[in-house]
Amino acid sequence: MKYYIETYGCQMNVSDSELVASILNTAGHDAAADIDSADVLLFNTCSVREHAEERVLGRISNEKHRKKAKPKFKIVLLGCMAQRIGKRLLETDTGIDYVVGVDNYRQLPSILAGEAHYALDFDTKEVYRELQPVHSNKHLGFVTIMRGCNNFCSYCIVPYVRGRERSRPYEDILQDMQIAIGQGIKDITLLGQNVNSYNYNGLSFPELLRRLNDIKGYYRLRFITSHPKDLSDELIKVMRDCDKVCEHIHLPLQSGDPEILKKMNRGYSYQHYLERIISLRQQVPDIAITTDLIAGFPGESEAQFEATLNAMREIEYDYAFCFKYSERSGTLAATSAEQLPESVRLERLQRMIDLQREITLKKFRAEIGKTVEVFVEDFSKKSKAQVSGKTRDFKIAVLSGDASLIGSLQYAKVLDATSGTLICE
Ligand code: 5AD
Ligand code: SF4
Repeated sequence: MKYYIETYGCQMNVSDSELVASILNTAGHDAAADIDSADVLLFNTCSVREHAEERVLGRISNEKHRKKAKPKFKIVLLGCMAQRIGKRLLETDTGIDYVVGVDNYRQLPSILAGEAHYALDFDTKEVYRELQPVHSNKHLGFVTIMRGCNNFCSYCIVPYVRGRERSRPYEDILQDMQIAIGQGIKDITLLGQNVNSYNYNGLSFPELLRRLNDIKGYYRLRFITSHPKDLSDELIKVMRDCDKVCEHIHLPLQSGDPEILKKMNRGYSYQHYLERIISLRQQVPDIAITTDLIAGFPGESEAQFEATLNAMREIEYDYAFCFKYSERSGTLAATSAEQLPESVRLERLQRMIDLQREITLKKFRAEIGKTVEVFVEDFSKKSKAQVSGKTRDFKIAVLSGDASLIGSLQYAKVLDATSGTLICE
């Protein structure tokens, strides 16, 4: 059968889709060039906010019509939404034929053969050993180092849909790295919901990074996501010492207010967070820091929201992913009687975005005149006479040039900047 995978949500889903492709290829199926030529359409989905789920349901209802022309056409729901509401969706008229959860991808071939309609059992031992992910991008690679999450932040659905935390064996990670490097991938991101708590038979995350840094050849090493409560001095040292580890950390703050942080069950104080930032900036000069922030958590007062704005001003993130709080049933925060009106959440979100845009512009403009290392990934979105890529510290850079630069490393001078792009020569 020819299959086509549409992926939503975080990089973990991108990486999981690469695993699914590998499982399907091994079972004798082939990737279709587009949806029109596919017999099976798989949606790998995200449940982190309501909006993400609505988008996928909309997409599925747009593709249902294909079953009329092709009676054997199947729609499969994978990932977090499958796990959260898949069974319910299967029972209603959504067009979904099969539902497969995050620990059950190995069962996909038998499910496509009609042996069952769903597989949703958690399996804390499943770390998808002995599979070779099919990399979907020629230049950027993702290597999953752990699956699941044990943190239960009170707003978050992830621990309920991805199950308990487990670390992948070092040998498997090493093998995935070598495959990616062998394929010419030069920018590799290690993935986990909380990479700082990686622990495989005593092997810690900093030590894992040190070992991977020793693999020969040029490549960049990144990792997401770090949890501030588990960010150790040792990790900061490794970031300082290891040449391949890029000068960027994504460190979600979520809120700048102590009470809200407690209600979120984040496990750190703002003071602790700030101390980590100071230490990172001291030891890794020019490190870029990005974050995730939530506006309008249940019970958040105007003053508590302003504490987050003040934190943004104090820390000056290079970039912040800002979200308005979204109730996820089954989580603790969704049971709070203090849910804020949508209008308040939206208004706060907008203020957050506006402030961050100013800060990002300032940060990007501070790069003008510097020489940056750009790994060129593609043509720029605006013009075929320009190419674009990322700096080591995860900023998008565009420079004049043609296809011959794609896949190469360039040292470029920053001439100008917007609040999202460095314009280089
Ligand atoms: N509402 C809004 N944002 C959320 N996130 C996680 N759960 C929710 C929610 N219920 C955000 C957090 C997290 C990022 C991946 O998504 O900021 O870090
Ligand atoms: Fe969700 Fe918190 Fe786990 Fe991140 S650390 S996935 S926010 S529960």
